[in-house]
Amino acid sequence: MGVLGASGYAGHQLCSLIQRHPSLSLKFATAHDQRGTTARIDGQTIPLLAPDDAKLGEAEIVFSALPHGSSHEWVTRARQAGARVVDLSADLRPGSGVDGAAYGLTELSRTQVAGAGIVANPGCYPTSVLLALAPLFAQALVLEGSTITINSASGVSGAGRSPRRELMFAEVSEDYRAYGVGNTHSHLSEMRAFTRSMGADVDLVFTPHLLPVARGILSTITVPIKAPLDDVLQPWRDAYSDEPFVELASDPPTLREVVHRNVIRIAVIALRETRVPTLLVLSALDNLMKGAAGQAIQNANLMLGLAECAGLPA
Ligand SMILES: NC(=O)c1ccc[n+]([C@@H]2O[C@H](COP(=O)([O-])OP(=O)(O)OC[C@H]3O[C@@H](n4cnc5c(N)ncnc54)[C@H](OP(=O)(O)O)[C@@H]3O)[C@@H](O)[C@H]2O)c1
Repeated sequence: MGVLGASGYAGHQLCSLIQRHPSLSLKFATAHDQRGTTARIDGQTIPLLAPDDAKLGEAEIVFSALPHGSSHEWVTRARQAGARVVDLSADLRPGSGVDGAAYGLTELSRTQVAGAGIVANPGCYPTSVLLALAPLFAQALVLEGSTITINSASGVSGAGRSPRRELMFAEVSEDYRAYGVGNTHSHLSEMRAFTRSMGADVDLVFTPHLLPVARGILSTITVPIKAPLDDVLQPWRDAYSDEPFVELASDPPTLREVVHRNVIRIAVIALRETRVPTLLVLSALDNLMKGAAGQAIQNANLMLGLAECAGLPA
């Protein structure tokens, strides 16, 4: 395996999962500003190469954990060198305007992922939102023309490792704020494209928040539905009862229940006293695991014909 962007948060997590994996081994790891240095990952010293020095064709799968905009070129170069690619950036996801990659929301796209040359690994927020909503879309239960309101809070590692003033400890700690307000966050195009592909005719209103913890995303989603459900969890049981990485909960999920694990935990509650029947869907995941590197390894396992759970902490 090769990891582009191994000095970043997602790339570091990928290297760690690859090293602990029973069937995978790390052929190379790259960095940009930190090229030529080494990283200590799980007790091993990993050389960080410049991307130009990486032998892309020697890896069966190249993971690109590069920033948006930089990744596409390296995905193309890796494919030309003969590798298959899992791209963690947004460059090739639905809504990006670029076709040719399988969308790697694993539970919903196993066949496409297994045979793909390029997998566009979903964003961390979209994974938390779309896996939570997909069972309602699949059974056409959402009220047509309605607005789904999504409030998501992410730990600071979601913003990457590059130093930025607004992400410094003293700015973030003991505070809580919304950002990307006004339906402007870049992940909306991916969420809208998937929602449309599931045939849902709805507006999405998405407001992300910055939570002063290192990792984890909690999404709180309000969904108007066509008619009340006798058993509110039934659509999720129908969709996910055999899924090793989807947990259905009767109480609201918490970040502590999911961090460092490759799972999404979902709870559903019928709201009282609303004119339109409405569900509150809550989901929690680790943005660097199920929201990034964990899901990328899940996809790579499928691409290589390995057990989907191999090397992944459930
Ligand atoms: N963080 C998350 O929770 C998360 C979740 C899902 C998806 N993603 C996606 O995964 C990708 C990586 O995210 P991240 O949070 O890990 O970012 P990050 O911590 O900022 O890491 C970016 C990595 O890319 C390298 N890099 C930066 N500019 C480069 C360039 N021009 N050419 C080659 N390498 C370059 C960096 O090297 P140096 O540090 O050595 O400069 C670093 O290794 C992004 O596309 C992000 O959207 C992240």
